[in-house]
Amino acid sequence: MNPSGPLIDRFGRKVSYLRISITDRCDLRCLYCMEEEMTFLPRAQILTLEEIYWIAKAFVDLGVEKIRITGGEPLVRRGALDLIEQLGRLPLKELVMTTNGTRLAECADRLATAGVSRLNISLDSLKPARFREMTRVGRLERVLEGLEAARRAGFECIKLNAVILKGFNHDEVIDLARFAVDRQLDISFIEEMPLGLVASHNRSHAYYSSDQVKQDLEKVFTLLPSPVRTGGPSRYFTVAGTGTKVGFISPHSHNFCADCNRVRLTVEGRLLLCLGNEHSVDLKQVIRRYPGDGNKLRQAIVAAMAIKPERHYFDLQEKPVILRHMNATGG
Ligand code: GTP
Ligand code: 5AD
Ligand code: SF4
Repeated sequence: MNPSGPLIDRFGRKVSYLRISITDRCDLRCLYCMEEEMTFLPRAQILTLEEIYWIAKAFVDLGVEKIRITGGEPLVRRGALDLIEQLGRLPLKELVMTTNGTRLAECADRLATAGVSRLNISLDSLKPARFREMTRVGRLERVLEGLEAARRAGFECIKLNAVILKGFNHDEVIDLARFAVDRQLDISFIEEMPLGLVASHNRSHAYYSSDQVKQDLEKVFTLLPSPVRTGGPSRYFTVAGTGTKVGFISPHSHNFCADCNRVRLTVEGRLLLCLGNEHSVDLKQVIRRYPGDGNKLRQAIVAAMAIKPERHYFDLQEKPVILRHMNATGG
């Protein structure tokens, strides 16, 4: 059998979006994402760049139109830019990336030339000391330099991602939005998800809902509902009188699983069918057992659609049921 697309799951959802985590490593240690001391995967356990490319190509052959490169921090992997240039030659509608921005000062131009059209850059605080506290080791200035380099490189769109934690940065939502408006950027406010154990804070105490963020913003800005969809979970609003879109990613307060169009590839080669569940298929095993056999790879991907879960069930009151940290999936 010659497996063909489109990829459709048991609930009739079409999978057209692949998120690829090209490394679990990162030069930051954000409180909500990682522990201070982390053990990363040994090299023998991770996909080579070539294997990642062949898996991406199999997905494109099956109708995937959008690829997002994530990490850890994707730009810390040696050869990341070469891979991205190769992916940029695939027939995709969109090649996009999520990054912490620390290496953009050097990489932004090459990414834009490679065909990356949109960038999401994590930025949780505009105060250097607080930025350091939330990332444990980061220098805000470095990320702001990266952001400026990205603006100069001429991406179609740059979006900031801010995970809002009560007691850490909830008092900064207006400043963050104003920062975005002044620079004609978009911004998403994100509710923290319980992936992996974190010792730094109690996730249910730090919960600050998207509705609270929205109420805070509406004291200063007028938010007009926007029909824009990026094929992601954000609900968007336009800041009246500006070009800035404000998105809310609200896995707790506004479940978006019914529209889910994506799957994730971890750097270990696991195809994860949902961020909040462990259902997965080991594509590394397939690609190493049948090297160069695109048919086998496509068969495994098509078969995986049968186990894509209907939705995630995150509960901030309970211990996390998903023990992998966010750096393993890149969000
Ligand atoms: P687009 O998909 O291109 O719109 O970008 P995005 O904003 O969804 O992607 P990004 O990598 O910037 O992730 C922002 C936040 O959304 C992160 O916290 C992700 O974990 C979260 N996110 C993305 N996709 C999903 C999903 O399918 N389920 C859940 N629960 N969260 C998601
Ligand atoms: N919950 C929500 N968002 C998270 N991110 C990392 N860890 C978490 C978490 N536990 C965000 C990062 C980045 C995106 C890929 O995911 O801030 O912007
Ligand atoms: Fe690194 Fe992103 Fe995780 Fe922060 S959220 S530690 S930048 S992978």
